[in-house]
Amino acid sequence: HALPPPPTLEWQIAYRGQPVALVVAETLEAAIEGAEAVQPTYESEPFAAVLDSEGSSRDSAEDVTFGNAEEALRGAAVTIDASYSSPTQHHNPIELLATTAIWEDGRLTIHECTQDSAGTKGMAAHALWLDPAVVDVKSAYIGGGFGQKGGMGQRQTALVARAAMLLGRPVKIVTPRGQIFHLATYRPNSRHRVRLGASADGKMIAALYDAEQEQSRNGYFPSADYHEAPSRLYGIENYRGTAADIRLDRQPPGWMRAPHPQAACFAFESAVDELAFKLGRDPVALRLANNGGVDHSTGHPYSSRFLNECLDEGARRFGWSRRTLQPRSMSASDGSLVGWGVACGAYPSMMAAAVATLRIGADGRTRYTVSGHEMGQGIRTAIATVLLEGLDIDPDKLEIVIGDTTAAPQHMTAGSWGTAGAVPATAKAVARMREAIAELLAGRRIAGNLHRQLATVRRPFLRIQVSEVAPGQGPEALQSLRRGGFAVAGPQYPTFTTMSYIAHFVEVRIEPTTRRIRVPRVVSIADCGRVISPRTAASQVRGGVVWAFSAALREATEIDPRYGGYLNNDLADYVVAVNADIGDIDVGFIDQPDPLANSMGLKGLGEVAMVGASPAIANAIFHATGRRLRDMPIRIEHLL
Ligand code: MOS
Repeated sequence: HALPPPPTLEWQIAYRGQPVALVVAETLEAAIEGAEAVQPTYESEPFAAVLDSEGSSRDSAEDVTFGNAEEALRGAAVTIDASYSSPTQHHNPIELLATTAIWEDGRLTIHECTQDSAGTKGMAAHALWLDPAVVDVKSAYIGGGFGQKGGMGQRQTALVARAAMLLGRPVKIVTPRGQIFHLATYRPNSRHRVRLGASADGKMIAALYDAEQEQSRNGYFPSADYHEAPSRLYGIENYRGTAADIRLDRQPPGWMRAPHPQAACFAFESAVDELAFKLGRDPVALRLANNGGVDHSTGHPYSSRFLNECLDEGARRFGWSRRTLQPRSMSASDGSLVGWGVACGAYPSMMAAAVATLRIGADGRTRYTVSGHEMGQGIRTAIATVLLEGLDIDPDKLEIVIGDTTAAPQHMTAGSWGTAGAVPATAKAVARMREAIAELLAGRRIAGNLHRQLATVRRPFLRIQVSEVAPGQGPEALQSLRRGGFAVAGPQYPTFTTMSYIAHFVEVRIEPTTRRIRVPRVVSIADCGRVISPRTAASQVRGGVVWAFSAALREATEIDPRYGGYLNNDLADYVVAVNADIGDIDVGFIDQPDPLANSMGLKGLGEVAMVGASPAIANAIFHATGRRLRDMPIRIEHLL
């Protein structure tokens, strides 16, 4: 997983919007004037801008195959063959890409909103020919991460650092939103053909799923990962998945919340709904009857799997039993068509190695350092919860230092492995600290919290360090972590597979005159193993549902087929969900610890939260209207 160094400035222009110069000035106005004075001239070359452009090239990934899907499909009593699509979509966090670089006394300090402080350090050092030992990166808080700030494509970092070195003064850049569309990675446009086969009694026996996506000429956002969730949602024993990149002259696409499963499960879970309708089966009952306990791609069991429990609990809370099977059979008193839809999601549960230090002082202060990045998902809250449950310390003087390469070895925080990396290490640190205190006090019983106890025995502080690795990882994972490399395991562990699951139930209402689609209520029940921080976990799920709403009904990047630029590169024209769009989102958890994934029994949550909610909306729209809409985003004009 060694990432190439970041491109800085090149003579060869690979895509429209690629930066050609950095202008540094004392004021923003002067910088803008300077940038406008740059008048590059170009020699033109042929290029391909969108999926169907001439001049694209196709790269196929290795198939994901188990059983014999073609043969099983031929023997199926009922089949579905349908194609779906998900558009290009861009991250639009509130915080823009931002870097501040300071070159002082032979040290480079970079403050950047990144999910990968260690990776940023390594890439900046590499690009600037510096010894990584003199580069520090700090990323205390990120105003919206979700993959955009995962390290790829942050072209500005090394440039800004170089400018700071040349000028001997701190340099800061905040990329305007209009440029973010061209600088950052994005969710690629993808197309999905799904064929499903079932026996007459509703057992799904075959799935053939072909995925393709837009890709840059050299990009490496992997197409094969479209199969990671659909192949493990149900107990289907015969599966063949193909995947391909369509290479274009655009900047690289990348990870954006629930990267592959978002689009893959939109397709797959829409197809399952189509199959249920063709079979005349209730879509919840069909799913319940197709559960499976084995990851057929490896033959290993799942370490825990409560998908059916999610479906049962969601159906109960939603009142699913009052649903009538036929489309257009439910309506509201104002004449709106009412539709109830369901869909599920799965997402790999991974874990990163971590090193943590914990220092408790007699002065009342506690300092804890571990790998992790706070992008609003609540990783600090989860860490604090474990520390405060296990240790009698002053919460007001508890300092949790994450995202800082000077504090502890840092690992990229992504793929929903943040909590699964930091929290088991934190639990271990708590246990080790309790041992150290017991040893220090040697049976004496001293009143007061731990700070008071240290003061009483005249010990200025106690400091411990622990490390934790994932199942199947050895010391090499810690070595890689310490070098700023990759140290992630899962979802395929040596003897088991670990996935997180969710079931979403959605009500839509279609207004009779405007055909406006409203979503007044959603019930989402997740299986993420043990829940560490109930409030931030529920908030994660709500955020995922909001984004899935936005993806299903609002967001699409408009690409200029003539030049390859992005036409709606601002928040007026790139429409995202707003507060008034969102109704009630009732979130629940199964909260059953996974016995194998890690010592705390937790599984990833941030990404699975989003998966399945978009198809649940599309399935509800079908139930309301009888129209099967297979292309996101679904808009008013599709219901006229
Ligand atoms: Mo996530 S899309 O891996 O930050």
